Amino acid sequence: MLRLANKIALVTGATSGIGLATAHRFVEEGAKVVITGTDAGRLEAASKELGDVLAIRADAGDVADQRRIADTIRDTFGRLDVLFVNAGVADFRPLDGWDEAGFDRSMAVNVKGPLFLVQALLPILSNPASIILNGSVNAHLGKPGSIVYAATKAALISLARTLSGELIGRGIRANVVSPGPVTTPLYGKLGFGDSDLAGFKDYLIGVLPIGRFGEAKEIADAIVYFASDESRFTVGSELVVDGGMINI
Ligand code: NAI
Repeated sequence: MLRLANKIALVTGATSGIGLATAHRFVEEGAKVVITGTDAGRLEAASKELGDVLAIRADAGDVADQRRIADTIRDTFGRLDVLFVNAGVADFRPLDGWDEAGFDRSMAVNVKGPLFLVQALLPILSNPASIILNGSVNAHLGKPGSIVYAATKAALISLARTLSGELIGRGIRANVVSPGPVTTPLYGKLGFGDSDLAGFKDYLIGVLPIGRFGEAKEIADAIVYFASDESRFTVGSELVVDGGMINI
């Protein structure tokens, strides 16, 4: 029996990295998958790669777009069983490099959009339903440059608990998967030059007890557990998938 047979599952920001790998795993496990992204060309490429998926162009930081996603899923499937909130901005700057617009953008994509997406989906979330939020080890660390990113990811850990507290009576549970460093296009978007980026990656490998970056599929496998009914007794919790980075 496939682990997600007959489930309708939404993955936000599924055109690359962890989101795309998770969409692949969801398809393999028998789910009907809905994906979102901001770029029409990249959405089309991801849809071709994944096969029979519903693609919705939407900005994860835009509240009206979150309502449109919910309306489209309601009109197409009538319900949603699994939500993986993956789309995220990783904007790293020192404290004195921040301005209000950058702060608002990180908060909008990483925190505000997810909250209003869940709100918009409430009428069609099944009983049982599983919400998985993509956190980060940065929520637990005080790494220089991560001041806003880490705060947004810490907010998601809180959100998984409060959403669960409010919604578990309806059979809806929320949990967080917090990845450590994973090889995805995200690192190319941090604004480093090539040699600085190589140095940063070497530094991270040096602090990873497992001695390497994770692969997107290794995070996706954890998300499949939360998406499936195998995790039905796991509510409001966090699974850190980080090669031992924060515990060893
Ligand atoms: P990525 O850059 O490959 O994926 C990010 C995805 O989010 C892309 O599909 C992108 O198009 C989408 N996205 C970004 N802004 C969006 C917006 N406003 N609206 C809709 N979609 C948007 O990077 P990766 O690594 O797969 O990142 C996915 C999530 O994983 C993020 O939330 C990130 O914070 C988290 N994460 C990544 C880690 C890593 O080492 N790669 C570690 C910990 C967490």
